[in-house]
Amino acid sequence: MSEDVEQLVEAARAVKDRAYAPYSDFHVGAALRGTDGRVFTGCNVENASYPVTVCAERVALGAAVAAGSREFDRIVVATDAESPTPPCGMCRQALSEFGLELIVLSVGQDDTRSQWRLAELLPAHFELNRRREQASDA
Ligand code: THU
Repeated sequence: MSEDVEQLVEAARAVKDRAYAPYSDFHVGAALRGTDGRVFTGCNVENASYPVTVCAERVALGAAVAAGSREFDRIVVATDAESPTPPCGMCRQALSEFGLELIVLSVGQDDTRSQWRLAELLPAHFELNRRREQASDA
């Protein structure tokens, strides 16, 4: 893997350690890279009301959009799972809003790795016609 990708892996692992996961004890970190090279990170944030929990991928996506970034080429997801886990269905749909060409790399325990294109993970995504193009303010 290229040096750039290794930096993303490091960023995803670092933010994994900040996951708030007292209920599942499943810690997830995500590092999402904009096509301009900026990197946005997120971790899962659980809640006593379980469905309120947000996944690492969507926290990273929210941080990116809030910073004015909407074009992405890669996301790295880091966990301590025995085998690398792909993003959940809700996160696949959330990411698909910004393009199906996204490369998703998942890194698990002992540096096990799996990689997909988002289009493979979510072959039929839900779309609505956009009413207007909305400029980013950043
Ligand atoms: N989780 C993520 O952060 N990303 C995923 O793609 C799958 C699941 C989190 C949610 C919850 O805090 C924990 O992992 C167990 O489901």
